[in-house]
Amino acid sequence: MQLTALSHFSTHPLACSPWWPRHHLVRRLPPLSAAALHHQMVTHSMPPEKLEVFKSLEPWVTLSVLPVLKPVENSWQPNDLLPDPSQPSDEFVDEVRALRQRTCELSEDYLVVLVGDMITEEALLTYQTWFNTFDGVRDDTMSSSSTWAIWIRGWSAEENRHGDLLRTYLYLSGRVDMKMIESTACNI
Ligand SMILES: [Fe+2]
Repeated sequence: MQLTALSHFSTHPLACSPWWPRHHLVRRLPPLSAAALHHQMVTHSMPPEKLEVFKSLEPWVTLSVLPVLKPVENSWQPNDLLPDPSQPSDEFVDEVRALRQRTCELSEDYLVVLVGDMITEEALLTYQTWFNTFDGVRDDTMSSSSTWAIWIRGWSAEENRHGDLLRTYLYLSGRVDMKMIESTACNI
């Protein structure tokens, strides 16, 4: 049986998230012209006191967070955990068949969790774009040597591997409606 994507994922993924700053949803702005409001939103994405906090955290991030990012050569890749397409066709098909035999036993509850995880990973571009709207954190050039920018790129690369693995695994399983999931992800 196929599962269709969950309809509530078509809403903004952060709408119900506990870490979405509530004051953004309820804050009352003073009356401003449209041009002034646009200027304020674009040029002051983080108030000075928060900017100072992020700046003060940079040495800690350099010492304690960046080392957590594993080098690419030491990291697993999705292809390591999936049927290997570089094999002769028969062997590849045998591995796909074995994967489908294993996944046909998975409960729908389990598949719903995997679909939710996959859609979350597929929204990675949204998260990276969001980070890059923040003063003091953003990666201005996509190759910035600032501490936060290095972390954003490294974290994004790692999360992308999770998404690639989940997507291919679910696709090969044949247990879920991939087109519906892909359409849902387009709304994030
Ligand atoms: Fe992840």
